Amino acid sequence: METTRPLGRSGIEVSALGFGCWAIGGEWQRPDGQPLGWGKVDDEESVRAVRRALDLGVTFFDTADTYGAGHSERVLGRALGKRRADVVVATKWGNVFDEDTRTLTGSDASPAHLRRALTASLDRLGTDYIDLYQFHISDADTEQAALLRDACEELVHEGLIRAYAWSTDDPDRAAVFAEGPHCAAVQHTLNVLQDAPAMIRLCEEADLASINRSPLAMGLLAGKRRDGQPLEAGDIRSRPPAWLQGFGDGSGADPEWLARVDALRDVLTSEGRTLGQGALAWLWARSPRTIPIPGFRSVAQAEENAGALQKGALTGEQLAEVDRLLGR
Ligand SMILES: NC(=O)c1ccc[n+]([C@@H]2O[C@H](COP(=O)([O-])OP(=O)(O)OC[C@H]3O[C@@H](n4cnc5c(N)ncnc54)[C@H](OP(=O)(O)O)[C@@H]3O)[C@@H](O)[C@H]2O)c1
Repeated sequence: METTRPLGRSGIEVSALGFGCWAIGGEWQRPDGQPLGWGKVDDEESVRAVRRALDLGVTFFDTADTYGAGHSERVLGRALGKRRADVVVATKWGNVFDEDTRTLTGSDASPAHLRRALTASLDRLGTDYIDLYQFHISDADTEQAALLRDACEELVHEGLIRAYAWSTDDPDRAAVFAEGPHCAAVQHTLNVLQDAPAMIRLCEEADLASINRSPLAMGLLAGKRRDGQPLEAGDIRSRPPAWLQGFGDGSGADPEWLARVDALRDVLTSEGRTLGQGALAWLWARSPRTIPIPGFRSVAQAEENAGALQKGALTGEQLAEVDRLLGR
């Protein structure tokens, strides 16, 4: 398998694997105390993990202004340092938060906020351009989104961003952004347990990259929640909001999800792959447009996930076997 893939129609080339920087933002929350981060993280370990990923050929990093209420962007910017020009940085806007209290306070889908948010992200990341700027409000009104798409075109012409995308699971919404010439991708949920055929079809028709969030089903496809150990109180998976699937009420993983992971174990761990590497291999086989962005919190996870690149995609036969095992 080629270890790079095009970022849709942008002319930008990225490693076929990106690194997702949500967890490395550390703890943050909603005003009612609902955790929005993945518990405590060690910033020095996060920096080492990003640099290890760079050494292993990863050139694509996905973050958001709101992860850790600005902290993820700061850590990523510090880790990249002088190597910033060698990589493709994707971040997101649309949420409003308080950096001091690390609290999400709301959202703002206005073009004025878009400019304000971009200035703040550039500052935190220590850069003067964003490669891929993504709208983070997945269910926003489409008329409002069309205004933002046009505002993004202006930002491209000003040289502040190179391309843009919408982070949404709704193909009809993604299609609104796809009308803009510099829209390069859609970021959406895709993993071996949660297929998204309509979104893949749109990516093929509109020449977009399919950037895959939750490629490891938030850790379930890397063995999380097998050991019966309780999750940290600050971990979003310990008090899952309605949209977070597979973690039950937080006291244990959904047995039906674990049964499906077990059913796939042999095919995903073929050719010496770990389970997580197999989950990434399924995504590369699913479409030539996919670019998974697994999260990470340590050098060991960075090495295992980046190691999947060398092992490549599942075969067509294995892809069919997965569908058979899941009754799809
Ligand atoms: N709305 C949006 O735009 C949106 C939403 C979700 C995600 N995203 C993006 O997508 C990225 C990835 O998705 P995700 O965070 O939902 O989850 P994911 O990639 O499906 O799962 C990541 C988690 O799995 C565990 N893990 C990763 N590699 C591992 C390994 N080698 N061995 C064992 N465990 C491993 C880690 O958690 P533990 O160590 O705690 O087990 C890690 O934080 C995010 O970082 C973010 O950039 C965007």
